[in-house]
Amino acid sequence: MCGIVGYVGPRPSQDILLAGLARLEYRGYDSAGVAVIDGDGSLGMRKKAGKLAVLRDSLADAPLPDGSTGIGHTRWATHGGPTDVNAHPHLADDDKLALIHNGIIENFSALREELLADGVVFRSETDTEVAAALLGREYAGNGGDLELAFRSVVNRLEGAFTLLAMHQDHPGLVVGARRNSPLVIGLGEGENFLGSDVAAFIEHTRKALAIGQDQIVSITPDAVTVVDFAGTPVQPEPFDVSWDAAAAEKGGWSSFMAKEVAEQPEAVANTIRGRIQDGQVVIPELDGLDELFLGINRVIITACGTASYAALVGKYAIEQWARVAVDVELAHEFRYRDPVIGADTLVVSISQSGETMDTLMAVKYARERGARTLSICNTQGATIPRESDAVVYTHAGPEVAVASTKAFSAQITALLLLGLHMGRVRGAVADASVDVAELAALPEKIASVLEGEQEHVTQLAGWMADTRSVLFLGRHVGYPIALEGALKLKEISYIHAEGFAAGELKHGPIALIEPGQPVFVLVPSPRHSALVHSKVVSNIQEIRARGARVIVIAEVGDAAVLPFADEVIHIPLAGAMFEPLLAVVPLQIFAMALATAKGLDVDQPRNLAKSVTVE
Ligand code: F6R
Repeated sequence: MCGIVGYVGPRPSQDILLAGLARLEYRGYDSAGVAVIDGDGSLGMRKKAGKLAVLRDSLADAPLPDGSTGIGHTRWATHGGPTDVNAHPHLADDDKLALIHNGIIENFSALREELLADGVVFRSETDTEVAAALLGREYAGNGGDLELAFRSVVNRLEGAFTLLAMHQDHPGLVVGARRNSPLVIGLGEGENFLGSDVAAFIEHTRKALAIGQDQIVSITPDAVTVVDFAGTPVQPEPFDVSWDAAAAEKGGWSSFMAKEVAEQPEAVANTIRGRIQDGQVVIPELDGLDELFLGINRVIITACGTASYAALVGKYAIEQWARVAVDVELAHEFRYRDPVIGADTLVVSISQSGETMDTLMAVKYARERGARTLSICNTQGATIPRESDAVVYTHAGPEVAVASTKAFSAQITALLLLGLHMGRVRGAVADASVDVAELAALPEKIASVLEGEQEHVTQLAGWMADTRSVLFLGRHVGYPIALEGALKLKEISYIHAEGFAAGELKHGPIALIEPGQPVFVLVPSPRHSALVHSKVVSNIQEIRARGARVIVIAEVGDAAVLPFADEVIHIPLAGAMFEPLLAVVPLQIFAMALATAKGLDVDQPRNLAKSVTVE
């Protein structure tokens, strides 16, 4: 939710921090702040409500003194509204110590009472200031050992947190800690970095270290040390970042979302690459897990939001190809009931960020209950894959826009690969050659939808800029795409939108149809099932008879829908399981074009943050 960056080295830190925050702004954008220790050893701090640009302007008007030790923060408010005072950093020890935080400190109330009784005066309404005050008190009490004070503080905190702190008596030192919130180390030459993710320092180094749960890190220009919360030294895990700074830049596009929608052919191709051998799907990361796939009798896919709709597509594919029962569970629901799971259950989690708290907690819960866990994730070194027995990475590259697009396509691709891999191992797929060929053809087909329908769909959205509600209908794998189409529209254009299983229409939602109501209908190919196709055509007639304005997404040459559609968006012919990757593209473009027509910021929609690291 919040973005965190830290720097120690020979260079002035302010610009490095601001550039890092700009790359992390997708994580939260309601206020931002930086603190630096200058050459004379005094601490300067500036924080402002509003987007990063407000802080940037303030610093341009009145710069902080140069300093080569610094921390920076971009906030998504939890405790206390987005104001200057509630923004981070928070200061303690007579304003000599600065601290920033991502997460929620659940026992902050009790700690605040304790500190108030001790005479501490709080300036903000945040849980973070409690951690800063506690750290200040520990530091003053132990004779000025910041690392020791940090250890004692983290052991008193409950909840989820990444903390970074520095003290003006220790220039050249930033200390950080993490529990259930992300933090990675960037290794430079004579300088080191900390960040919520590698985007924070990608323009300076692609060499990174992953920090495990409940660990504390200290960085100086020349050294990195990591200990656990008991103080025992730990060896952090090195990894190289596979993408470069340009991948996280807008690069001439009007928005990150536009760029990411356009990158889908590449995201899908990169996710497939190296996973087809001799006409079969073989996922090298799953080597040695055949026994697991043979031993399970149930799969639960757990995720949130867009990732949960990818999961629904995965359910159809895995059941069809691997002949094993699959359920899809929203991560925050799964964990708080009493699911029947055990060693014969494979829990597959899906997460772009790998840091979504609800999904992380579901994975931990599944493991505690003896289930096997596999994650599908887009972010190297993230917490969810580290907590899982196995991981299949999607290779969509960094996704910056808050609304997920290319990561969704890559997630479906990974699930299709997983279904075919499991189908082969379980002996359920006799001949996968047609499906493997369909997979390989996907990037080109997605590119053709982007090229062929961009203008048409953008025009349609322009006509509909005043629309107050849009409905989306689909059957089979079209159903999750209807849900995703509605979510995209809600998220970035703030228009009421609902996705329904088309068969559900007559059980209630049809009451919503009145003359002029726009309804997108995802029509499956009649080549896959004439029956399902005819049912959808009947649904179209039902809504059309009640005055709906029908916008159909159908394969090229589907003449049966033409008489009943106000608009037809064409997608190329594809196998049943592959259609979702084509049909979702016009819906993404539609949402983006409608939001743009309304003058909205498609990359940073109101109230949202990209990585939801609180429950
Ligand atoms: C919607 C969107 C969210 C995420 C959800 C899970 O566009 O991006 O619904 O899909 O918050 O996020 P990850 O995949 O990072 O776990």
